[in-house]
Amino acid sequence: MNKSIELRQFATPDDVAAAATDRIAQAAAEAIATRNRFVWALAGGQTPEKVYERLAEPSVAATIDWTKTFILWGDERCVPPDDPGSNFRMATEALLRHVSIPTDHVLRILGEAPPAQEAARYEHQLRKLLGDEAPIDLTLLGAGTDGHTASLFPGSAAAAERDRWVVDTPGPKPYRQRITLTLPRIRNSRHIIVLLTGVEKRPIVAGMMEQTHADWPVLAACPNKGTALWLADQAAVG
Ligand code: 6PG
Repeated sequence: MNKSIELRQFATPDDVAAAATDRIAQAAAEAIATRNRFVWALAGGQTPEKVYERLAEPSVAATIDWTKTFILWGDERCVPPDDPGSNFRMATEALLRHVSIPTDHVLRILGEAPPAQEAARYEHQLRKLLGDEAPIDLTLLGAGTDGHTASLFPGSAAAAERDRWVVDTPGPKPYRQRITLTLPRIRNSRHIIVLLTGVEKRPIVAGMMEQTHADWPVLAACPNKGTALWLADQAAVG
């Protein structure tokens, strides 16, 4: 078992979403109480949608001070913001348009911009927000069946990047071009939560438990100080 990862198992995807929501609200309260703001990097893909929808429920949304929350993305597909594949669009539909977050607190990756140029711009934005040292308070991630996380694919130059915070990278169809935070940037997070639901994610959990596949970026996505929290359902754990 990887000592930098804590695995918690739940019966269903809804239970995983409930646990994730609780942890996100805790991280927000801690950050705002301590530093008067909460900087949260959202995950893309489909798995986090249940979490975002739950957070948008009025009784749950009320547990977070959205006026002191800053939203980043761990990665984005290079598509326009209204594209069905946009991670920004999914998060906006499921959560962001339902909560009172100041528009200038939402740092969208411009999927429609030239990728290399946007990667540089986004890194500059993050450095303005965080300075050169400050951790992201919470980075929420998913994992692909090949062991990728964000858009860091095994064996890619992006996954090997150790200096830049944001890079553009090729990805599998249908999203051939992506922009992603790099591992050094992701690891400089106070908290990292990885969501794993469904039987197709079982090899990822097994790979972590058996310490195989050292080249999987998701296994390296752990905080510099602390452990990554993996929230998985029964189907993914087996
Ligand atoms: C993306 C995500 C990616 C995702 C995994 C899992 O933009 O696709 O950032 O890393 O988290 O591919 O995707 P699912 O949640 O859809 O299984």
